[in-house]
Amino acid sequence: MTAPRRDELAAVVLAAGMGTRFRSDVAKVMHRVAGRTMLRHVLDALRPLGLRQVVVVVGHQAQEVAGEAAQAEVDHLVTVLQEEQLGTGHATAQGLALLDDAVRHVLVVPGDTPLLTPATLERLADGDGEATATLLTTEPEDPGGYGRIIHDDAGAVVGIVEETDASGEELAVREVNAGMYRFERAALAASLRQLDTDNAQGEQYLTDVVSILVGRGETVRALPAPFSEVSGVNDRGELATAGHVLRQRALERLMRQGVTVIDPATTYVDVGVTVGRDTVLLPGCLLEGDTTVGERATIGPYSRLVDAHVEDGARVAQSHVIAASIGPQADVGPFAYLRPGTRLERRAKAGAFVEMKNTTLGEASKAPHLAYLGDARVGRNVNFGAGSITVNYDGFDKHETVIEDGAFVGSDNMLVAPVHIGRGAVTGAGSVITHDVPDDALALERSEQRTLAGWAARR
Ligand code: UD1
Ligand code: CA
Repeated sequence: MTAPRRDELAAVVLAAGMGTRFRSDVAKVMHRVAGRTMLRHVLDALRPLGLRQVVVVVGHQAQEVAGEAAQAEVDHLVTVLQEEQLGTGHATAQGLALLDDAVRHVLVVPGDTPLLTPATLERLADGDGEATATLLTTEPEDPGGYGRIIHDDAGAVVGIVEETDASGEELAVREVNAGMYRFERAALAASLRQLDTDNAQGEQYLTDVVSILVGRGETVRALPAPFSEVSGVNDRGELATAGHVLRQRALERLMRQGVTVIDPATTYVDVGVTVGRDTVLLPGCLLEGDTTVGERATIGPYSRLVDAHVEDGARVAQSHVIAASIGPQADVGPFAYLRPGTRLERRAKAGAFVEMKNTTLGEASKAPHLAYLGDARVGRNVNFGAGSITVNYDGFDKHETVIEDGAFVGSDNMLVAPVHIGRGAVTGAGSVITHDVPDDALALERSEQRTLAGWAARR
């Protein structure tokens, strides 16, 4: 027999549990690792398989989990509610109930295995078409917590024993159940009806289906998989370990694509991040979320980019960039803080101790030191002096500052918004600018200096 046809293959994803070992108010599958929730990692691995249906079984925090599942944009995805978490077998039965008649084979996948790859799932989907059930098994350093695989004398799989139910001899078994299976649908449905709760946890174990099938003379095959691709995450320690593996994969991908990573050990890259060739990531950088970096850019040292867009040849040193966009050859930092809605055009500069929010800084414009720009539209070739700020908030509303091309804002200015600085205009150092400044004008707002000759000597 050949591999199941994809249009007859569905997946049931088990994501109803709370995950008590996490000691969290948030359902386990909603915990994030390397930029995505665990559930999202699993669904992203399933998406390329092009299955007929994907059913996500939800329970704890059902609405949030279902919402997250929908975000994954997997075709033909539905969710089903498991009202009470009576075990993995019971959860699978809830999922099966939603499958349409054309489905003849079913993958069952847990929602807490974020290291799954499409390749591993393809192997499970296509491998050994003759077996009624195929399960992925693995050999961890420490098999603790996993169900142990039991073979007969001839080496055939005859059952799975959960750790809490295992005898001393069974506990010594190194080969464990990865918790991912492919079943013939009809045989699975029939076996699920025979499950009992006669075990240490008082639950309907999906794993018992294996011995039930074997008892009926069906073939069950074990397909070995690397632990680094199938390990489950049941507590915060395992979450951190999974994060390490996912980030390592992301870094290896970037390096293969031509990115220089000076120190992989201190570079943290989420799975969705893209970086162009000949860009250098200096030590101590975090590239998170949907961050994209172009070619020949330099990031770091010590920078955090979250959903940031950095274009070719830009430099970001020792800075935080959150949902902001940095144009080609622009210069950021050290110690800049670019907040959402900020856009630096080509060759613009946000230098040391500069904060920007919802601001565009035009081509070749510069705020080189100690400045705050909020809700500002700044044209090209503007110089924004040291110590100057836009006073965008009056305690009630935010107001806009507009600075036209070629203007020169002196040092230590307060531009009290709403205010407009004309093209080529200059403002004097120390001014509080409350009125619009016309093109090419000088605006100066400060008291005359008094100089008393000899005063200091007489004192
Ligand atoms: C399960 C397997 C174990 C295997 C391990 C691999 C069983 C009984 N045990 O153990 O053999 O080695 O996975 O990682 O299947 N869930 C529901 N509804 C429920 C119970 C669980 O949706 O009623 C979901 C959970 O949210 C989770 C998944 O099923 O995503 C697995 O449940 P979990 O409690 O983590 O099972 P393990 O103890 O890890
Ligand atoms: Ca688990």
